[in-house]
Amino acid sequence: MPIVNTVKMFEVAKREQFAVGAFNVNNMELLQGIIGAGKEQQAPLILQISRGARKYANMKYLRALIDVATTEVPEIPVAIHLDHGDYDTAMTCIDEGYTSVMFDGSKLPLEENIAKTKKIADYAHSKEPYICVEAELGMLGGIEEDVVGVKEEDIMKFLTDPDEAKQFVEESGCDSLAVAIGTSHGAYKFKHTPKLAFDRIEAIAKKIPKTPLVMHGSSSVPAEFIEAINKYAVLDQNNAELCRTAGETNWEQMPQTMGVPEEAIARAAKMAVCKVNIDTDLRLAMTSAILRVWGESNDALWAWIQAGSKGERPKFPFDPREYLGPGREAVKTIVARKMKALGCSGTAKAVIIG
Ligand code: G3H
Ligand code: 13P
Ligand code: ZN
Repeated sequence: MPIVNTVKMFEVAKREQFAVGAFNVNNMELLQGIIGAGKEQQAPLILQISRGARKYANMKYLRALIDVATTEVPEIPVAIHLDHGDYDTAMTCIDEGYTSVMFDGSKLPLEENIAKTKKIADYAHSKEPYICVEAELGMLGGIEEDVVGVKEEDIMKFLTDPDEAKQFVEESGCDSLAVAIGTSHGAYKFKHTPKLAFDRIEAIAKKIPKTPLVMHGSSSVPAEFIEAINKYAVLDQNNAELCRTAGETNWEQMPQTMGVPEEAIARAAKMAVCKVNIDTDLRLAMTSAILRVWGESNDALWAWIQAGSKGERPKFPFDPREYLGPGREAVKTIVARKMKALGCSGTAKAVIIG
């Protein structure tokens, strides 16, 4: 099926109480992993592209890859969405044929956020077919596009205000609204298991019952990825051992922090949240899989040396396919897991019917 906007996805998601996963993409292997999961799970999905991703990959390459990938899965509704756009990029992406754009004016004064969102929404909605606009109100924690958000201890002070949300949606004409309800961007979110403000989701939904809500910063930072990265990254096994014996307890490359638990995104998906953004978990999945390939190769070499260097020397996997392949598979596995948590597995047909 052709690339679609998010209107039907969100209508069905709201009615049937699930949420659609929005996954960040900036290279072929991420794309294939995401699309592979969508096909396996028969789930609608949103491919989202940040300004950084546009710069990194060159949008022409990325678009060509996406066009090919989506023709491979004609039974899956797929939207192309700009993630955290500024005004100019949002306008450019509308002209480039994205089916949805986000304008992130959350750091602007309310009136300016409304005015800029409205201009973008008016332009997007004048297009045939209709292009959707996501806006943001309230401030999240963590880091996004190199901008540092609210500190962990202050996250609950900057939640989206329900009355402002009503005014914002009525005056801006946006199609969906990203809200601050206790989540945070990036890999370093929380020191302890967070509590999302489910009561705030309810209060916002009461004020704007027709508007699909969006949850950013929803990665769960799975411990197994951090453990694998710390096992195989930076410090090789010998150096790690040296650090340990020298009493250095803080030698890991990545501290284990807490993300948004998958039970929490599952609960939000049953409420008014129709789109859930996940980027960090895909990065961690791919990176930990690649490091595992290299780390296991180092282990094999070490074992061979310790065994007296007899027989054939283990080969180092320097062909990118040997590590990007497992990286791609790891992305597919984590995306499929998220789709199940969001309740959108098996809903592709329902979205097409509408
Ligand atoms: O929230 C932002 C996304 O995770 C995109 O990150 O700008 O590093 O591509 P990026
Ligand atoms: P995470 O960093 O939690 O994956 O959030 C991604 C996001 O919100 C992209 O817009
Ligand atoms: Zn975000």
